[in-house]
Amino acid sequence: MSGFPGGDIMRLIIEDDFKKLSKRAAKIIANAIIKKPDLVLGLATGSTPLGTYKELIKMYNKENLDFSQVVTFNLDEYYNISQDDKNSYNYYMHENLFKHINIKEENINIPKGNVKEIKDYCKEYDKKIKKCGGIDLQLLGIGNNGHIGFNEPDKELNLRTHLTKLTKSTIEANARFFNSIKEVPDRAITMGLSSIMNSKKILLLASGKNKTNIIEELLTKDKATTEIPASALLMHSNLTVILDEDAACNYKKRMKKGEKDEIIN
Ligand code: PGA
Repeated sequence: MSGFPGGDIMRLIIEDDFKKLSKRAAKIIANAIIKKPDLVLGLATGSTPLGTYKELIKMYNKENLDFSQVVTFNLDEYYNISQDDKNSYNYYMHENLFKHINIKEENINIPKGNVKEIKDYCKEYDKKIKKCGGIDLQLLGIGNNGHIGFNEPDKELNLRTHLTKLTKSTIEANARFFNSIKEVPDRAITMGLSSIMNSKKILLLASGKNKTNIIEELLTKDKATTEIPASALLMHSNLTVILDEDAACNYKKRMKKGEKDEIIN
């Protein structure tokens, strides 16, 4: 697949809609679990993975997909938030996936948003990923501003798990989950670029019209830049990107003009 900034190593899949995208993503995750029952699975939050989690729950119920040996690491958590807060990612993960499947509580890892010794805690998080043999498959969404996890556009990018300040655009984008924008935490703990890039396989999902600009930029720029943290993924040797038609719209227009070549579907 020459012509893509990811060269020959990126696989790009465009599905009609969010439902099909979610099914495709869930199938990839399920196959990885079937192949390696003790899969170390990196997970994401936000709106994008919700459909994938629904499909995985269906597979657990109808196809006996077994999560009993799966180990998970979540990308991030808001800072200064208790684990049972309804806006915490801990709550989100339990509500939207964990409580519906047979994963063991001790195999679930989500950064804690209310620890005091934050630097030590972040180091421990990375150490634990390493101790588990590294992440086999990392699921990712992308922010409108190109962030992955909470690695926000900046002059420099942190490599390891760290405490970070959220940008105005992320706070605005996430305000939809809160009663008011004032309630959105302005800091978060996130896995760093290296923690993410060390994953053996990466699955990046983007859905909806509001992602079409950033996807176009990501797939046509031919440059990795700290202004688009997701562009680091283009250097990964095993990256699959799944888009729906809405997210792919601008990119496909460019392609029609002959600027880019084929898509594997
Ligand atoms: P979203 O967020 O899935 O809610 O669009 C993605 C992200 O911010 O990484």
